[in-house]
Amino acid sequence: MTIFEAMESRHSVRAYQDKPIPQALVQELSREVAACNAESGLRIQLVTGEKDAFSGLMAHYGKFSGVSNYIALIGRKGPDLDETVGYYGQRLVLKAQMLGLNTCWVAMTMKKGAVKANCKMDKDEKLVCVLSLGYGVNPGKAHKSKAMEALCGPGQKPDWFVKGMQAAMLAPTAMNQQKFQFTLEGSAVKARATGGFYSKVDLGIVKYHFELGAGKENFTWA
Ligand SMILES: Cc1cc2nc3c(=O)[nH]c(=O)nc-3n(C[C@H](O)[C@H](O)[C@H](O)COP(=O)(O)O)c2cc1C
Repeated sequence: MTIFEAMESRHSVRAYQDKPIPQALVQELSREVAACNAESGLRIQLVTGEKDAFSGLMAHYGKFSGVSNYIALIGRKGPDLDETVGYYGQRLVLKAQMLGLNTCWVAMTMKKGAVKANCKMDKDEKLVCVLSLGYGVNPGKAHKSKAMEALCGPGQKPDWFVKGMQAAMLAPTAMNQQKFQFTLEGSAVKARATGGFYSKVDLGIVKYHFELGAGKENFTWA
């Protein structure tokens, strides 16, 4: 599966089969986690065979079932933490999809205390979100998207920009709010969050998708 097929086929999956992730895949994901941490300075951790974090009332309300693996997105507190978590978290989501695994971004509907108890964390660090991980009962379904014009304004755009927007529109956002705007300034692209719940995390996620769709060689971030 290519990374573009991964973007197309990825949907949030909240119900998982009782089937462990094979060791070879755990190792491959661990390598990707290590690469993300080395590049970003985050302290992302993969936790397998742990049912506590998704066993409470919150997880039940959130319609989660069978979750026994997750990726904890942890990093040092600071103004850029949320966006960085979004960017690298989504890299891991697409990697998992390419390995045949399903995921869901989770900010609220799990037990943060249980996640923290299973991770290493310093006082100046924060658990921002978790990615549930495993073999889904089903592959999920595509979200409804705002129109492209609503996310980048009207008017003719270069082909690479349109491809970037198409990729961004496939990206997950908290409660599917899609509170982001892309604008083209020459060959530079400005991306901003327009407010809302976890919209800085969303911004990192959509920027990662935009780069993949548009091709990094075609533009710079303004
Ligand atoms: C930052 C972030 C936080 C999220 N938090 C939760 C959550 O706490 N519980 C939940 O069930 N889904 C959560 N989601 C999943 C979104 O509801 C989902 O991504 C969105 O509806 C789009 O659907 P899709 O992922 O299938 O494309 C979160 C998504 C993001 C990006």
